[in-house]
Amino acid sequence: MSLGGTASYRDPARRGDLPDLVSSAVAAAEAVGFEFCVRPEIGRLLAALAGGVPPGGSIGETGTGTGAGVAWMQSAAHPETRIVSYELDEQRAAAAQRLFEDHHNIEIVCADASELFGRGPFDLLVHDGGPGSGKHPSDELVDPATVLTPGGTMTLDDVTPAVTWPPTFRGEPDEGRLRWLTHPQLCTTEIRVAADLAVLVARYLPSG
Ligand SMILES: C[S@@+](CC[C@H](N)C(=O)[O-])C[C@H]1O[C@@H](n2cnc3c(N)ncnc32)[C@H](O)[C@@H]1O
Repeated sequence: MSLGGTASYRDPARRGDLPDLVSSAVAAAEAVGFEFCVRPEIGRLLAALAGGVPPGGSIGETGTGTGAGVAWMQSAAHPETRIVSYELDEQRAAAAQRLFEDHHNIEIVCADASELFGRGPFDLLVHDGGPGSGKHPSDELVDPATVLTPGGTMTLDDVTPAVTWPPTFRGEPDEGRLRWLTHPQLCTTEIRVAADLAVLVARYLPSG
């Protein structure tokens, strides 16, 4: 979760130029008091990844918020790339649905994000809320073979940059991050997008 994500858009020196839909998604977040928009540094990474999805390909996201991440991805994705995002909170989902109502390739669903996984496989799957990211000890990481196309990419937002191997959390090995970094069918790296913020990016490389 992006602590202060929405607030980070208030400072022009931090946010840089924004696509119009990103500004609108952030304004919608302000209007409903949602503080956890994806930070612009991550938004730009998501846009770069979305721009690599082939025309007609598909992107999934767990945790829409008010649509900032979807807006970043839309800014670079091919107009025929399908983007589907799930949000549990009715007010946020409604705001995002309004934002993208004229975009035939974008679908915002107000439901538990676990339902998203059956709608794959995706060329890009963004974990930003709900189950399946494996981030927490009790949460299983989704099976890449069922949610990703071969060569597809999965991201996990908002991890603290690691400085040791194995990465640690509160002094113990970070099992959530290790699920990604040691998965036999994932080629995973941690990309630091700010001094205090990193994203796990994994490509699904099926063996055999
Ligand atoms: C960090 S915010 C998402 C930020 C958003 N992706 C963006 O680009 O601004 C996490 C979101 O996940 C949603 N969420 C949490 N659990 C969920 C679940 N089980 N299914 C769907 N959405 C969920 C929360 O309501 C919250 O809006």
